[in-house]
Amino acid sequence: MSTGVITASYIGASALFILALGGLSHQESARRGNLYGMLGMGLALVVTIFGLVTDNRFALIVGMLAGGGIGWYLAKKVEMTQMPELVAILHSLVGLAAVCVGFANALDHGADISGVEKTIHDVETYIGILIGAVTLSGSVAAYLKLSAKISGKPLQLPGRHLFNVGLLLLSIWFGVLFVQQSALGGGTVWLLLMTLLALLFGVHMVMAIGGADMPVVVSMLNSYSGWAAAAMGFMLGNDLLIVVGALVGSSGAILSYIMCKAMNRKFVNVILGGFGTGASKSGAAAGPAGEAGDVKPIEAEEAADLLENAREVMIVPGYGMAVAQAQHIVYEITKKLRDKGVNVRFGIHPVAGRMPGHMNVLLAEARVPYDIVYEMDEINGDFSKVDVSIVIGANDIVNPAAQEVPDSPIAGMPVLEPWKGKTTIVLKRSMGTGYAGVDNPLFYKDNTRMLFGDAKESVDAVLKFLSH
Ligand code: TAP
Repeated sequence: MSTGVITASYIGASALFILALGGLSHQESARRGNLYGMLGMGLALVVTIFGLVTDNRFALIVGMLAGGGIGWYLAKKVEMTQMPELVAILHSLVGLAAVCVGFANALDHGADISGVEKTIHDVETYIGILIGAVTLSGSVAAYLKLSAKISGKPLQLPGRHLFNVGLLLLSIWFGVLFVQQSALGGGTVWLLLMTLLALLFGVHMVMAIGGADMPVVVSMLNSYSGWAAAAMGFMLGNDLLIVVGALVGSSGAILSYIMCKAMNRKFVNVILGGFGTGASKSGAAAGPAGEAGDVKPIEAEEAADLLENAREVMIVPGYGMAVAQAQHIVYEITKKLRDKGVNVRFGIHPVAGRMPGHMNVLLAEARVPYDIVYEMDEINGDFSKVDVSIVIGANDIVNPAAQEVPDSPIAGMPVLEPWKGKTTIVLKRSMGTGYAGVDNPLFYKDNTRMLFGDAKESVDAVLKFLSH
């Protein structure tokens, strides 16, 4: 394959990856975005395997088929709610690849380079392995936490910030020694020592972060995996890898920023760790002492009656709807109400559920039309006109404590405001708290009614009563 064809194909693949990111930014175009991404990756693989690789092509294809098969199997098997942990463990593989490529590059002294060129090459290798090792161990720790194989509680070692600074300084020192000795044909021992430090740092950084901040950590590791890939691109002299790595690295960083903003958390505070326990305290009486008795339960029949007689209905889905897989029945209810002339809309909080766009994906899966699904900022001003808000398995994202309780851990987090409407019906199983482990005064408001039970069973019961 000529160099011209390879270059043109790489530019084409880069363009497809950019189109993929553009497509993924809106739910209407997300499917198309995915398709562009797959085409770009397909093109990149074909051109690399048949245009650049000269040796061991058979082994490469066998390895790819095995890896692709495992990926296919995992993608088919994984539940939507397990997506963050799958993404975390996949990031660890990018980190591992960067470490392997880095060591191969460092050990390959055949590169006939010297002087400044050699120094640049060594610095690239060193940084590539450093980012790769942090991504590798950090992602494995994130996977273990998200899949509850280890505790979600933040590990707060005394003097941990000092410890991190120490690791950073040591890594810089080892880097200087590596570059100096590599020029004389050695230095691998410093590379190995730095890799151990970076692995330790990755685990320590993620262990210090609490459950509630883990999704931000996953997107941050996504960003790291992009930079690790870009570093690999520099090591291998592969422009496409540099472009793709930079795209992934920067989009992951932007996503982390958006998530932090939606939770009113500062990125630096998230990284410094210590917020959220990751445990949902089911069964515990929530809310300020003395208010627990003021909860007003409601039965499905009465809830159906309220919905049928409303003119404006707002549905606020949250993590519990995802767990219960209630989205299809929710859409059945929506259709029935719309047939009766009720204006039904969905209000989506940017961090509802456990991953960005979680609710949008579920609603799209249930074929809810996009034009009745609104972002928080578009819809929050309309709650005063709403007759019935129905909160399905959501908690933190509708918690008025974020506005009313200045010392609440979620104080300042933007929330949806169903309590401003006429009636709010909350569907959940108990008085347990949400992901942030914070009590919710919404449940005790005069105009709130609690429909207790699994969200799917509750909406099913409501649907049956609507049919009469
Ligand atoms: P949560 O605050 O976690 O509340 C979910 C509620 O669903 C729980 O209180 C639980 O109460 C209920 N539930 C669980 N299973 C249920 C079932 N089968 N049927 C009915 N209810 C069920 O969820 P949210 O309101 O969606 O908020 C998301 C949280 O995740 C926020 O704290 C947010 O900051 C955090 N977070 C999200 C993201 C992204 S990107 N989405 C990123 C970082 C952090 P019961 O146990 O009483 O049923």
